[in-house]
Amino acid sequence: MKTVNTNIKNNELYIGKHSLKALALKYKTPLMVYDEEGVKTKIKLIKESFSSKKLKTKIIYASKAFIAPHLVDILNEEGLCADATSISDFELLEKANFPMERVFFQGNNKTEEEIKLALKLKINAFIVDSFSELKLIEKLAKTKVDTYFRINPYVKIDAHKHIQTANLDSKFGEGIDNAIWDDIIDFYNNSTHVVLKGLQVHLGSQIKEIDPYLEAIDKIAEFKKKLETKLKYKIKAFDLGGGFGVKYLKEDSKFPLKEGLKTIIKKLEELDFEIVAIEPGRSIVGTEAVTIYQCLKLKQSRYYNYCLVDGGMADNIRPALYDAKYSFACVNNVVSQEKEKYQVVGKFCESGDILGKDITLSKLKENDYIVTYTTGAYCYAMSSNYNGALRPAVLFVSSKGVKEVIRRETVEDYLAVFNFKGDK
Ligand code: LLP
Repeated sequence: MKTVNTNIKNNELYIGKHSLKALALKYKTPLMVYDEEGVKTKIKLIKESFSSKKLKTKIIYASKAFIAPHLVDILNEEGLCADATSISDFELLEKANFPMERVFFQGNNKTEEEIKLALKLKINAFIVDSFSELKLIEKLAKTKVDTYFRINPYVKIDAHKHIQTANLDSKFGEGIDNAIWDDIIDFYNNSTHVVLKGLQVHLGSQIKEIDPYLEAIDKIAEFKKKLETKLKYKIKAFDLGGGFGVKYLKEDSKFPLKEGLKTIIKKLEELDFEIVAIEPGRSIVGTEAVTIYQCLKLKQSRYYNYCLVDGGMADNIRPALYDAKYSFACVNNVVSQEKEKYQVVGKFCESGDILGKDITLSKLKENDYIVTYTTGAYCYAMSSNYNGALRPAVLFVSSKGVKEVIRRETVEDYLAVFNFKGDK
């Protein structure tokens, strides 16, 4: 499964005109490389497919998939909204000059400090996760605040259980059948600040089918009517969440972005909302990056050929956490008659630090470079300093050139948080 724009020249791998080997030599490895034109193409596809003459549409980028100021500029230019889940997210968006009226506050346990900052910044809306959170926002607010309420519509999806969020036992939102809704509506009717502008759902991630979304829409349409029998005003907006799945392996299926979003918008047009939103993350950035590693050592065990790379679970926790599978390729000697099957493993002290099992590659030599495809979402974002690992550098490449959007962490960055004897 290749990233959109990879190509082979002189048996070496390129993204557009950029040799991945040259980038690896210059910026060192592990190195993440995003195809900027690929990201923009995805945004355009989503914008075109999720558009309506009847409804106002919003595309709220799920920043948790991957965020960096350069990407914020792109989101801004393309007119997207963005979400934030923490003070750091807000500060990053603000520092990158993203308009606060296009920011939505997500998260299932917002702190007082975070709420106060969001109120001060005058963001677009809070996506409220619980009645308890709603009361806290009302208490802290001094003027009118738009809220979308997250509802668990109980729609099961076919994905790893760690990324399902609308199960009966989910920690997210308030259940659609929860008796608490009468009190929530009373609260909205009698509150001074919070306004129930919209309803929100997020079913989970890596959803390949359209049906779960259609099921959620049906349930929410009914639920809206029920709420409006008691609420003193109409609920204007509906945010369907994100989760549109991408392909990691050739044999994977994916959410049909164009056709799926068109079907969804058509169905939403039949309902009585003015504003509709989606929250894509992975479907914008997921397929548009690769991670380059250097294979530092080769060794054989009784069962396997091991390719030991200079990164691993600290820059990509997904195989260990979700049993996620990836495609790989060699950066040099891409096509070869001599092939070998490898366990591509990381350098961290855990048996689960395996990036890929039974991966067929051109026969490797030590110090060769390899890439993992489709690392654009939830890799850098979930990276860690495990074993003292330093987070990789991240590049955006395009026909215009190379932009280092995140520099590699340094040992100084790593040491900066510790108190040493003698420090003040
Ligand atoms: N909206 C909400 C409220 C979310 O919680 C998420 C993702 C999204 C939108 C975006 O979902 P996407 O379109 O990217 O699937 N770490 C996991 C994925 C966790 C998703 C968390 N929430 C993984 O690596 O698969």
